[in-house]
Amino acid sequence: MTPRQQELVRTSFLLVQSQQSRITELLYEELFRLEPASKALFRGDISEQQKKLMRMLQIAIENIDNKVELQTMLFNLGMIHQSYGVEEHHFVSFGKSLNFALKSVLKEAFTPEVEASWLAAYHYFAVTMKNFPHSSDTVQLPHN
Ligand code: HEM
Repeated sequence: MTPRQQELVRTSFLLVQSQQSRITELLYEELFRLEPASKALFRGDISEQQKKLMRMLQIAIENIDNKVELQTMLFNLGMIHQSYGVEEHHFVSFGKSLNFALKSVLKEAFTPEVEASWLAAYHYFAVTMKNFPHSSDTVQLPHN
């Protein structure tokens, strides 16, 4: 991601936060339309899950230029997701759903440049989550 893209994600995230329930609702609605079977992976309270996702995105975006800390966090999150049964195709659909939700809510603020910046950010988060080191003791064990 370029510094300009990082800045665009940071500034547009302020708008996202002001409408976070609508964005997360649309995201999960679209995800379950694309991947109906993935609904079964979510065992907890979905509104709690929406808050956790937003908090995590906030931390990831705040640390977007702090690659070392962010990488450790995303590796852990990736390992947890693998244990939930999340697979590659889920990450693809999740990315599409996030894009759909952002586009629907941010409307004209979601310019092609802002969209490209979010796609780059999601790509970085998802690739890092999927590539956690499989045999490393630097990764903390997931909690239940
Ligand atoms: C960048 C992408 C993603 C981020 C930032 C993210 C973030 C999170 C966070 C912060 C949690 C809570 C973990 C905890 O409780 O400690 C979580 C849980 C979960 N995520 Fe994700 N996630 C992402 C992608 C996905 C994808 C692609 C799927 C698959 C459809 C998925 C399915 C789940 C499930 C099933 C849970 C557990 C929910 C429950 O306990 O009911 N996530 N995610």
